[in-house]
Amino acid sequence: MERILPREPVPDLDAYRGAGGGEGLARVREIGGSAVIDEVKKSGLRGRGGAGFPTGVKWRGTASEDLPKTVVCNAAEGEPGTVKDRYLIDYDPYRVIEGVAIASLAIGAETAYIGIKTRFADQVQRLRSAAVEMDAAGMVDDVEIRLVEGPDDYLFGVETGMLEVIEGRDPLPRLVPPYVQGLTTPAGVETATVVNNVETLANIPGIVTHGADWFREAGTESSPGTMVFTVSGDVRTPGVAELPLGTPLSFLLYGVGEGLEAGRRPKLVISGVSNRPLTASEIDTPLSYEAMDAIGSGLGSGGFIVYDDTTCVVEVGTVLSGFLQVGSCGQCPPCKLGTTAFTEKFGRVMAKTASDDDIDDMLGWIPRVTDANRCGLGVGQRNLAAGILDTFAADVVACVEGRCPGHRGLAPPLPTDHDPINRRPVVRFLS
Ligand SMILES: Cc1cc2nc3c(=O)[nH]c(=O)nc-3n(C[C@H](O)[C@H](O)[C@H](O)COP(=O)(O)O)c2cc1C
Ligand code: SF4
Repeated sequence: MERILPREPVPDLDAYRGAGGGEGLARVREIGGSAVIDEVKKSGLRGRGGAGFPTGVKWRGTASEDLPKTVVCNAAEGEPGTVKDRYLIDYDPYRVIEGVAIASLAIGAETAYIGIKTRFADQVQRLRSAAVEMDAAGMVDDVEIRLVEGPDDYLFGVETGMLEVIEGRDPLPRLVPPYVQGLTTPAGVETATVVNNVETLANIPGIVTHGADWFREAGTESSPGTMVFTVSGDVRTPGVAELPLGTPLSFLLYGVGEGLEAGRRPKLVISGVSNRPLTASEIDTPLSYEAMDAIGSGLGSGGFIVYDDTTCVVEVGTVLSGFLQVGSCGQCPPCKLGTTAFTEKFGRVMAKTASDDDIDDMLGWIPRVTDANRCGLGVGQRNLAAGILDTFAADVVACVEGRCPGHRGLAPPLPTDHDPINRRPVVRFLS
């Protein structure tokens, strides 16, 4: 299904407009921001950055704040196993920019920012030239769109971490949400800010042009629309694909990823590092917010990493907890101490030096690692560790007793490169 990720990259603005691009912007100027917010609410669009928060509700809440407004497009794409935002920008930067401009006009913002990693040099360039074309065509005269490059840190993707970077500081998450304490302009004016993911905003032109009912023709009642998924790890061909929400996870693994090597089965499948890992018996679960929620897991940002049955779950726990520990900034001690404890203790289980106290200590950290947290990193650690210790308890015991399949030299599954022609990302998976 191709609503936001076209089959071929859009070559220039003429091609974008020739296929109907720009109509959403014309419509918001015609019907006004409030009617657009109503349509986005009716569409049921949920944020694609990880939490699935309803976009129209976020916009309405921010628009009603008694402050000037700004919009931020989150293009940090730091979630392990996820590369879809880079593809969306590669294939159709015009749609992303149109979404940013519509969001700005809808909530009454005169300035918008796109926060993106300096390392994503190709996408920075693609966005820059698309913005120049759209500006020259007079499409975005009423919104100033600024591109801000940022660091590789995981926390640059946290919405308030991104606000800090835009204001010239390190990406240390704030206590207060962006709709209450958003960006402060260079002139010192405080604003209420909407932060949305690239994919969320790429969905906006279609909703505004064709309407909420059209958007709901794909997906489920509670998860309308499509989502751009990434599949990587132990599949034959890692890939990126736009699918209707509600499609079974098995289609992503076997239809898009072309399955596992002969004789291999999935051991665990994770959607980023913030949700409970899934077992082989759960791979027919529909890719929807409600179905994933019902089994105590989540869609995250749609990046699914497959580990086959040669994998020790404790090694996965060690490597991913290590990623979170390094990413944690330490502003909230339970987060830094808890991620450190999980990394060390999973590591001890792997090294066969763990005692019963180490397991008890991990179980004790599960309810505490999230205490007084400013951002969702600690929640991710809790879900990941609790999932491994609970869902995969028998495998943890097997590792303790020396009966696990051995250790593979896993690394955090970070996308290092991607091939914009055939949508086959390269995800660094083994160290
Ligand atoms: C540790 C952490 C990392 C995150 N990284 C990203 C990211 O790379 N890109 C992104 O869009 N959202 C990321 N988020 C979610 C953002 O904080 C925020 O919820 C999102 O940008 C809101 O947009 P949405 O409503 O369109 O999903 C991250 C959250 C956490 C807790
Ligand atoms: S929860 Fe963790 S990563 Fe987030 S602000 Fe607190 S210490 Fe930093």
